[in-house]
Amino acid sequence: MKIRSWIKAKLIGIDFNALGVAGVELDFLMSHVPSNSLVMEIGCGYGQTTRRFAEKGNKVYAIDPFLPHKDSKLLMGENPDKIKEKFFNHLCDEILQEKVIFYNKTSENALKHYDGTKLDFIFIDGEHSYKALEIDIKWLEHLKEGGLVAFHDCTLPEVNDFLVKHVFPKYEFIGSRESTFIFRKGGRRK
Ligand SMILES: C[S@@+](CC[C@H](N)C(=O)[O-])C[C@H]1O[C@@H](n2cnc3c(N)ncnc32)[C@H](O)[C@@H]1O
Repeated sequence: MKIRSWIKAKLIGIDFNALGVAGVELDFLMSHVPSNSLVMEIGCGYGQTTRRFAEKGNKVYAIDPFLPHKDSKLLMGENPDKIKEKFFNHLCDEILQEKVIFYNKTSENALKHYDGTKLDFIFIDGEHSYKALEIDIKWLEHLKEGGLVAFHDCTLPEVNDFLVKHVFPKYEFIGSRESTFIFRKGGRRK
C-alpha cells in the first residue's frame, strides 16, 4: 500500500491491515475476473474487492470469520467487529439482492458446508499463513477446469513459500502485479 493511502486510512480510522488490494494490483486482478460468473472470495475484509467482483455482474460468495487475530504480520484487521460492520454497510444492497452471499465462517468451515457448485474464479486473501493456505487451496477442487485463482500478499514469506511448493508446480502461472499472483487450473506446467 502506498504511504498516502496508509496515512489516509489511519486518519479516517480504517485498519490498513484489512484494506487489501488497491492501485495497479487491483487493476490487474480485475482484468482477470470474469463477468456474469461465480466468484469465491476467501477473506473479504471491508468488502472492497467483493464489491468490484459483484459490479461485474458476478455472484460472489464472500467468506470471512471476522475473528480477532493477534498476529498482525498476517495482514488482518485488529478490530474485526468494526470491519464487519463496514463490510455490511458497504455491501448492504448487494447482499439484499443476493449478488453477494456472505459466509461468516473460516475458509475451513465454509468448505465443510459448501454445496459443490463449480466456481469460475477464486480469490484467496484470508489468513496469510502456510497452514491456512493448506486449507484454502482445497477450494480449488471446486474451481472449473480452465478457471483462474488469484492470491494476494504473495510477497509474505509464508505465502511465497506455499506458492513455490504447492501452486507453481501444479497450476499454470498467468502473471503477477506487485503481490497479486494469478494461476489457471488445468494448465499443468511442463
Ligand atoms: C486483507 S483482508 C481482505 C481484504 C479484501 N480481500 C480486499 O482486498 O478488500 C483479510 C481478511 O481475511 C479474513 N480471514 C482471516 N482468517 C480467515 C480464514 N481462516 N478464512 C477466511 N477469511 C479469513 C480476515 O478476517 C480479514 O478480514
